[in-house]
Amino acid sequence: MAASLSIVRTVSELREAVARARAAGAGVGFAPTMGALHEGHLSLIRAAKARCGFAVASLFVNPRQFAPHEDFDRYPRTEAADAALLASAGCDLLFAPEREAMYPPGFSTSVHVAEVSAPLEGEMRPHFFGGVATVVTKLLLQAQADAAFFGEKDYQQLLVVKRLARDLDIPTEIIGCPTLREQDGLALSSRNAYLSADERRIAGRLNLVLHEAIKAAHAGEPIARAEADAAHRLLGAGFSSVDYVAIRHAETLEPITDLAAPARILAAAWLGKTRLIDNMAV
Ligand code: PAJ
Repeated sequence: MAASLSIVRTVSELREAVARARAAGAGVGFAPTMGALHEGHLSLIRAAKARCGFAVASLFVNPRQFAPHEDFDRYPRTEAADAALLASAGCDLLFAPEREAMYPPGFSTSVHVAEVSAPLEGEMRPHFFGGVATVVTKLLLQAQADAAFFGEKDYQQLLVVKRLARDLDIPTEIIGCPTLREQDGLALSSRNAYLSADERRIAGRLNLVLHEAIKAAHAGEPIARAEADAAHRLLGAGFSSVDYVAIRHAETLEPITDLAAPARILAAAWLGKTRLIDNMAV
């Protein structure tokens, strides 16, 4: 158990606490989150603690990455439980700003990452990566950590964050961490809480279908057919609709026709009103 978790709500308090940790000789590791924490989030905190010594989490449900019709209002908000979980994972500091601290009146800057933001999630949720890139840039500059930890669960987001940190010379190393899963392979996600018992059972098929598609592609099935078969299987398993199943270049996310270069399979599909995403190395 961590001795104590401090909670701060302003950028100046955050910077003071980080400066104190540094003065005491610690490195600083950072994991941004939107709360409703689960073991996947905690694995990032544990990695930050192990690698850097002083672990900082942020909790901010970022309105800019939700479109008006999306689930911003019903997104789970469980700060007290989150703080207890963070403390148990060894987190030293939680930055949980109010909306006004992040976006004061007159806020008018946004960060746009071209290319890797464009396909897949970028096509389905055109507002999304602009909101993510803007808030992550702010958070990285606010925390001034040595390293920041992001889950491969949101693989395209990880690529976007790596790109913006490199392009804007943000002196924080961006580290990708493996996806934590339930026993049936369902990737842990705050949005899994929306699923009914029936939907939860079907949700477990998503990772299995992606594994099958990887196998088929390695066995020589054309990429486009492996993608289409997988989408078809998801619908057969009970998914309401499929936004995409795509086998792409692992770094650029551009379409590929063979597996010569490192590849990634990525998918987004709906169960009722809940949208699930997953991905794996091919
Ligand atoms: P959120 O969905 O809360 O996720 C916070 C971090 O936890 C992200 O880096 C995400 O990839 C990681 N994560 C989520 N589920 C995981 C799992 N099953 N295994 C491993 N890591 C997992 O992603 C966001 O918030 C926001 O977009 C944010 C980056 C905080 C910007 O608002």
